[in-house]
Order: sequence, then C-alpha cells, then structure tokens
Amino acid sequence: MKKLFHTTAVMVIFLFFLSCATTKKQSTSNTDISAKWIDKNLQDAATQYKYFITKIPEGVMPRSFTKDTLRTCPSENWTAGFYPGTLLYLYENTKDEVLFTETLKKIKLMEKEQYNKGTHDLGFMMYCSYGNLNRITPNEEYKKILINSARSLATRFNPAVGCIRSWGRSNDTSMFRVIIDNMMNLELLFWAAKETGDRLLYDISVTHANTTMKNHFRQDNSSYHVVVYNPQTGNVMKKETAQGAANESAWARGQLWGLYGYTLMYRETKDKKYLDQAQRIAAFILNNPNLPADKIPYWDFNAPGIPNTFRDASSAAIMASALIELAGYSNPTLAKNYMSTVEIILRTLSSPEYKAAIKENGGFILKHSVAHLPRNTEVDSPLPYADYYYVEAMMRYKKYFRL
Ligand code: GLY
Repeated sequence: MKKLFHTTAVMVIFLFFLSCATTKKQSTSNTDISAKWIDKNLQDAATQYKYFITKIPEGVMPRSFTKDTLRTCPSENWTAGFYPGTLLYLYENTKDEVLFTETLKKIKLMEKEQYNKGTHDLGFMMYCSYGNLNRITPNEEYKKILINSARSLATRFNPAVGCIRSWGRSNDTSMFRVIIDNMMNLELLFWAAKETGDRLLYDISVTHANTTMKNHFRQDNSSYHVVVYNPQTGNVMKKETAQGAANESAWARGQLWGLYGYTLMYRETKDKKYLDQAQRIAAFILNNPNLPADKIPYWDFNAPGIPNTFRDASSAAIMASALIELAGYSNPTLAKNYMSTVEIILRTLSSPEYKAAIKENGGFILKHSVAHLPRNTEVDSPLPYADYYYVEAMMRYKKYFRL
C-alpha cells in the first residue's frame, strides 16, 4: 500500500513537471518549428563553416564576401570575434572537433586585444569569442583574458558624461561620441563584475545604460545612432547618424542593438525599467509599418526608396535572438507575439532567399546584409555578425522550447 502511494506520488510529480514544460511550449508557440528542422539548419551551418575554414587565410578573420572576394580583417576589427563565436556555437551543437580546433587556432589572434583601450567594441570582440569559449570550456587563462578586456573597456568610461566612449581617442577633449551599439559591450562588464566582485564594473554598465536611455531615444522609442557629448560637462552637443539614412531616421541595426542591449540589462539587474525599455523598443520595431511581412528589416526603417531598397539580414538575426530572450521575461501575450515573429524570421533566413547553398557565398551562412550603406561598404553582403546571431537565435530557440 505504502509502495503504491509512493509510486502514485512520483507519477503525479512527474506529470506536473511534464505539463509545466508543455504548457510553456503551447502558450507561446503558434507555428511548429520542430527540433529536427532547427537541427537540420544548424547542421547545414556547421557543414558550411567546415568549408569556410578552408577558405580563410592564416592570421586574419573573415569580414565579408562581395564580388566573389573574401574580405578579411585583423583581430582589432570590431567584427573579429564573431567567426570564433559562431564556430563555438556550432561546436557546442555538433561536438565536431574540426570546429573546435579551428576556434582554438583563430581565437589566439584575439588574445592581445585584451589590452586594447582604443575601442569600445571589446564586448563584441572578446565576449563573443573568449566569452563563449570560457562558457563552454571554463579555464583560468580565458577568464583572465576576459577580465583584462573588461578593465580595458572600463578605461573609456567618463563619469562626467556617464558613458563609455564609443569612438575617438580617450584623451579627445573636443567631443565624446556614444553609439547605440555600445549597449552590446555591457555584457562583458557584467560578466567580469560577477567574476571579480568589482562593483565598479557593474556600476559603469548601469550608468551607461541609464545615460543612453535618457539621451538616445526619441518619443516613439526609436533611437539615434550617435549622441555627441561634451566630455567636460556631459552636455549633449548633437544627435546624428553615421550608418543610417538620416540623423532623424531609425537605422535598423541600431534599433536591434538597443533591443538586445536593454534585454540583457534586465537579465543582469532585474530592474523592471530595462524590461519596459526593451518592450517599448520591440513595440516600435514590430508595429513599424515598414517592417515587411517576412520580418527582415530594410537597412533603415526610414530608408528612401522602400520597398525598393536593401534588406539587412543581420538586423533580422539580432532581432530573433533578442526577442527569444525577451519572450522569456514577458507576459504570455507578448511572449507569443515575440515568438511568432522569431519563427517567421528563422523560416525566412533559413530559406534559399537568405541561406546560402553549401560552398556558396564564400562560406558565410547568410546572404543579404548591409554594413554601411552611406559609405557603400559591404552592402547586400554576407557578414559574420549575421551568421553569429542567426546561429545564436537557433540555439536559444532550442533552449526556449526545450527542443
Ligand atoms: N557596430 C557597428 C555596426 O553595427 O555596424
């Protein structure tokens, strides 16, 4: 009798947990992306990157592929960490040692950047590379590199402004430029604050996010690309764009850096004002009349010539990844809305329109991104950050639905 009671109790507990797991899936999913579908796309991505490995010269990272030519970059370029980062996600999924061997070989190039105080992009560069490496294979040496990187990044913080300087020399007294993209670098600081117990790194992140929330956003919750401050007084001198269509336009990738950035702010602080900010940004994007039905943004939400202008697959990939995380913090109605957008994005990006056939596209996974349209560089091109966030989104999707 006692044994029967025990067995029944175990069954009830098991059924309870099973129903919790399936409720989450049913309450947030409209369409049915299966584990098999995600795995097929991740497997294709791994196959493509195994080809890509054979195409990349020693000592450099891939940056884009236009006119049948691979453009590479050195380790100090802001995009340098995405290639090892993508390899690491793909290794995590497949356990294919070829991917890991290439990661270890290439990531070595990044090591010296831990002391680079001339860029704000250390979060992108070091957290996407060494951050993932340390997450997958924790190691004291990698931790040291990440901590040094965070400390180098923190040297660009100016208390009078309340921000980390994006562009320019640290001693430039004429102006202090901050771009919305800089929100992405805060993840590295939060990690290092937790690892070292150094509260200053945490406070710098929070102050940067608060100042950006105050000065970068418009009434409609779109964001400026660049805010220029007076480095002595912290006063705003001007608000403008570098990569967008106009000073008052909503450059697509910038909106997505903001979405991802405030979502991670909520993750790290649990301060509801960041969740509200991320949800307001999501509302601007998802309700925007210029967001196409397939959810791949034009390169700027106010680009001249819409619909006859370029799409930006990198923005779509960042959006998918950020919305999955945001859905996890949001009420069921919002979560359902976010996840149905994610599913449309993943399906569109995985279609032949955006996903390259194996051994095409120079070895990159995705086609059709825009790096810098006003300068006409890497327009309608494959880009390593499009690949990185696409793969990250699929890894997150699997976790979200426990596929
Ligand atoms: N951080 C530069 C870009 O998004 O193009």
